[in-house]
Amino acid sequence: MEEVIKIEGGHPLNGTVRISGSKNATVALIPAAILAEEPVTIYGVPEISDVRALIRLLNELGVVTEWKDSETLYIDPTNMKNEPMTSDTVKKLRASYYFMGALLGKYGKVVIDMPGGCYLGKRPIDLHLKGFEALGATVSCSGETYTIEARELTGTRIFLDISSVGATINIMLAAVHANGRTIIDNAAREPEIIDIATLLNKMGARIHGMGTSTLVIDGVDNLHGCFHEIIPDRIEAATYLLIAAAMAEDMRVENVIPQHLEAITSKLKEIGITMEIGDDFIRVHGNDLSKPLRPTEITTKPYPGFATDVQQPFTVLLTKADGVSRVRESIYEERFKHCFELNKMGASCKVEIPEGIITGPTPLRGTRVTATDLRCGAALVVAGLMAEGVTEIHDIYHIDRGYDNLDHKLQHLGAKIWREYVEN
Ligand code: EPU
Repeated sequence: MEEVIKIEGGHPLNGTVRISGSKNATVALIPAAILAEEPVTIYGVPEISDVRALIRLLNELGVVTEWKDSETLYIDPTNMKNEPMTSDTVKKLRASYYFMGALLGKYGKVVIDMPGGCYLGKRPIDLHLKGFEALGATVSCSGETYTIEARELTGTRIFLDISSVGATINIMLAAVHANGRTIIDNAAREPEIIDIATLLNKMGARIHGMGTSTLVIDGVDNLHGCFHEIIPDRIEAATYLLIAAAMAEDMRVENVIPQHLEAITSKLKEIGITMEIGDDFIRVHGNDLSKPLRPTEITTKPYPGFATDVQQPFTVLLTKADGVSRVRESIYEERFKHCFELNKMGASCKVEIPEGIITGPTPLRGTRVTATDLRCGAALVVAGLMAEGVTEIHDIYHIDRGYDNLDHKLQHLGAKIWREYVEN
């Protein structure tokens, strides 16, 4: 038996949805917290399986964790031990690679298996490893297991060939305890990186230049405990904005930082969606749901450009556009598996890597589909809400990795969505 999500589509949505703390920030904040010598409390932690997996990894290292309430996680690394990280959980999770930087920074050594995560085409970690080496570490790999160690880490200037989110954060984690100054040039500028640097600075680190492409890290000896509130999840917010654009009569997406969503809201305006953008909310209302949208062209880019993670659910909305839309991937060129699933629902999406070409408008109809990765899952939820009839989504563990309380949030807006066990 397999648990699936079923959605009966076509119901207009109304009401308010509150966005949770950012998944991609949380999965780095949790490993970052172990750099402290004292407990760290993080507020706004989303209820997702990636967080549960990270907590398991913390516990395997002897870190004490406690939920103070449903969103507040207390992390006490006082008695942690630098054990090899080779459990199955490491391999299931992309973000386990943040333990490389954190343990290397704290102990000068880490033994860890290759991280897993969504398959989006090749996802190398060469830039992370080059960064550690530039700081003075040696990296060896036996089978699936990396050993990264350094007698001491010394600050240096590191230029990233690609402004990688993961490499920027991982090098920052390793460098907070390095001797002297580390400068990361061509650093990624995603809001999640600012959030991690903010936590580290509250712990006593000395990081400057957050949000720019030059990050400066002056090494310190000790990091102390602190309290930190996570930024709202801009990808979850974008997903609900797309749901609103597709299906809402009047819907308010709350607890957002509209500045983080500018690339998305400007595209929504371009294709004909009206929105009211407040200080910490975006309201989508007054749209004629039966009217076709305008087609568009999208190219995914690092922040502040159009996020690759939003490309997949945005494709679904473009099936409502009258004409040909093109979505070009510049980050993960194979991130188009959702197109094949959408075609099963009646969409016309042609994939010519690195481009998806969507011809609309095509009404969608419910059928059996499979979430091949997290944001493909999000795309299928948007499609299910739009489609006529019942959509049955398989492999929903991908969705549960990154969307906090998805079913309840959608039910609250009037969607007909539920879980069921079916024969597989
Ligand atoms: N890259 C390399 N070498 C490296 C690192 C990256 O070639 O050492 C390449 C990647 O293959 C990719 C590009 O650089 O083509 C950018 O990758 P990046 O390192 O920025 O991605 P990431 O850190 O692995 C994070 C998010 C992803 C999001 C990307 C891009 C987390 C845990 N993951 O991945 O989120 O798509 O940044 O913004 O933060 C998701 O949320 O569904 C998701 C996949």
